[in-house]
Amino acid sequence: MATQRMLFLMSLSLLLHLWAAEAAAGHTEEAQAQALLRWKSTLLNSSSLSSWSYAAPTCSWYGVTCDDHGRATQLRLTESNLNGTLDALYSVALSSLTVLQLYDNNLINTIPVNISLFLNLVTLNLGGNNFVGPIPYQFSKLKHLTDLDLSINMLSGPIPWSLSMLSTLELLKLGQNNLSGGIPEELGALHSLEVLDLNSNSLCGPIPTSLGQFSMLVWLDISGNHLSSTIPFELGNLTSLVYIDLS
Ligand SMILES: *[C@@H]1O[C@H](CO)[C@@H](O)[C@H](O)[C@H]1NC(C)=O
Ligand SMILES: *[C@@H]1O[C@H](CO)[C@@H](O)[C@H](O)[C@H]1NC(C)=O
Ligand SMILES: *[C@@H]1O[C@H](CO)[C@@H](O)[C@H](O)[C@H]1NC(C)=O
Ligand SMILES: *[C@@H]1O[C@H](CO)[C@@H](O)[C@H](O)[C@H]1NC(C)=O
Ligand SMILES: *[C@@H]1O[C@H](CO)[C@@H](O)[C@H](O)[C@H]1NC(C)=O
Repeated sequence: MATQRMLFLMSLSLLLHLWAAEAAAGHTEEAQAQALLRWKSTLLNSSSLSSWSYAAPTCSWYGVTCDDHGRATQLRLTESNLNGTLDALYSVALSSLTVLQLYDNNLINTIPVNISLFLNLVTLNLGGNNFVGPIPYQFSKLKHLTDLDLSINMLSGPIPWSLSMLSTLELLKLGQNNLSGGIPEELGALHSLEVLDLNSNSLCGPIPTSLGQFSMLVWLDISGNHLSSTIPFELGNLTSLVYIDLS
């Protein structure tokens, strides 16, 4: 009798556990679907996102990749004719995102500071859009970032020195914007950097000697700026380099 009751209690607690786990997963998926659909509703041309609807599970939507728990980890919407802003994208329900890839769309306005709250991002690519205004210095909070591509927009203001805190960064592309000021000396702290592309901006001042510290750098393009013409002796230390354009 006692064993039977114990078995009953054990299976009851197991059922409750399963039910709770399922409810939690369902909650996550519903919240992330809501968040993505809310952003979609702010876009002017979302015909490429026709699969984004409650009719199908979120993880099957165009451009969305999930982990085993059904959490959206990647949003890859390259060349998808997206017209609108990123203002409505941030939601805590999407905090598992590791990849935000929106290259070559028609996105406008400033880059919202709250994109820096996607703390798990490894890849952030907003290149080839029409973003204006500053690069949020709060991007320094993205401690797992390896690829940051904001090239081919209309961003202005300085390159935030705080980007030097992204110690895992391997690729930094800010070319073809309207960035001004100097190249921050602090960037020399990016020990894992392999690609640094700052071409065609309005950068001025000296080429920092700290750039000689990039032992992994294979690609350096700082052409098309107003930098002083003296090439620091220290650049001779860039032994991995295969491409350099300082013109
Ligand atoms: C989307 O943006 C492109 C480029 O800015 C523009 O030519 C097109 O008319 C826009 N489409 C809509 C629906 O706003
Ligand atoms: C809207 O996007 C579709 C493909 O996603 C594209 O064929 C169409 O030209 C776009 N319309 C406008 C007005 O931008
Ligand atoms: C994110 O930032 C944008 C632009 O500042 C703002 O409109 C939006 O309300 C913010 N989203 C959240 C969830 O705070
Ligand atoms: C570039 O930025 C400067 C200010 O730094 C501004 O005066 C100029 O209008 C901007 N140019 C473009 C094309 O946005
Ligand atoms: C460059 O390498 C030389 C040795 O070849 C070393 O003495 C110097 O400190 C290095 N400079 C930088 C900026 O790393």
